Order: sequence, then structure tokens, then C-alpha cells
Amino acid sequence: MIPKTLLFVSVSRLHPPGESEQLQAIVEQGRNRNRSLGINATLVAARGRFAEVLDGPEESLQTLMASIRADPRHEQVTTVLHQDYQAARPAGSGMELVYRGESLYIARSITPLLEATPADRDQAALAAQLLFLIRELGKGPDD
Ligand SMILES: Cc1cc2nc3c(=O)[nH]c(=O)nc-3n(C[C@H](O)[C@H](O)[C@H](O)COP(=O)(O)O)c2cc1C
Repeated sequence: MIPKTLLFVSVSRLHPPGESEQLQAIVEQGRNRNRSLGINATLVAARGRFAEVLDGPEESLQTLMASIRADPRHEQVTTVLHQDYQAARPAGSGMELVYRGESLYIARSITPLLEATPADRDQAALAAQLLFLIRELGKGPDD
């Protein structure tokens, strides 16, 4: 089966204090569940915005997205890209938080996608740019 890539953006409902610990808990629990689903997730969090790339089998992505959409820890969960897996290397499986901080650049790469409609001509280009950015942030020193 051809693996798929899904990119979603959302607005965080986590607030300090405790935000960092709650985010860590999401990643630790998510890592185990993703492994069992054969999914690799790459998450970024900037200025109250989330963006996550999910790579894995379509059925697993649908199962996980049903949980993610119902999660009260964020809102405005918007899928902005869903395509065949095209990265250079096969994804591992698990979950990694590759950025958490106050980057305006990253936040501004996410915010317009929360408001765009799928019919928006710029939406696809913005989503492709955000995917590229998250892939870059996820690269290790040897990639
Ligand atoms: C921004 C964000 C990203 C998440 N990413 C994942 C993920 O990659 N894998 C995962 O298992 N849960 C992830 N979660 C948690 C899920 O929404 C959900 O709580 C968890 O999968 C348990 O699902 P359940 O409540 O249906 O049992 C994420 C939550 C948030 C807020």
C-alpha cells in the first residue's frame, strides 16, 4: 500500500503554566500509539499554533485523525494537505516535536492556512511550503 502524507494545522488550547508538560505528554503518548499504527508524526508548536505532518497507511491516518479532531486540547483542526508520500526517505515511526517556541516566521506559515478554504488558490502553495519547512526542521545532522 502506498503510504500517505497528511498535514493539519490547529489552534492550541494549552496555556501556561503547564503548557510545556502537556505538550510533552501528547508527544510521549502519541509516540506509542503512532508506532502501533505505523505512523510517523512531526509536530511543530509556535505562538499557540500547531502544525503536524503524519506519514503512514491511509487507514491508520483516518483512525488517528478521528481522535485528533475530537481532542479538546486544540481547535480549528484543518487538514491542508493529503497526498501520496513523497519524501526522500521512508518515515520512521513514532512522533517528534521538532519545534516549540515563539518563532513569528513559523506562526505566520500556519495562521493563513487556518483561514483558507480548500478552493483558495494560494492554499495549496502555502501548504506545500509548510510541509517543506516541517520536513527541514525534522532533519537530523546527517540528513
Ligand atoms: C496538536 C496535537 C497533535 C497530536 N498528535 C498525535 C499523534 O501524532 N498521535 C497520537 O496518538 N495522538 C496525537 N494527539 C493526541 C490525540 O488527539 C488523542 O488524544 C490520542 O491519540 C488518544 O486518542 P483517543 O482519545 O481517541 O483515545 C495529538 C493531539 C494534539 C492536540
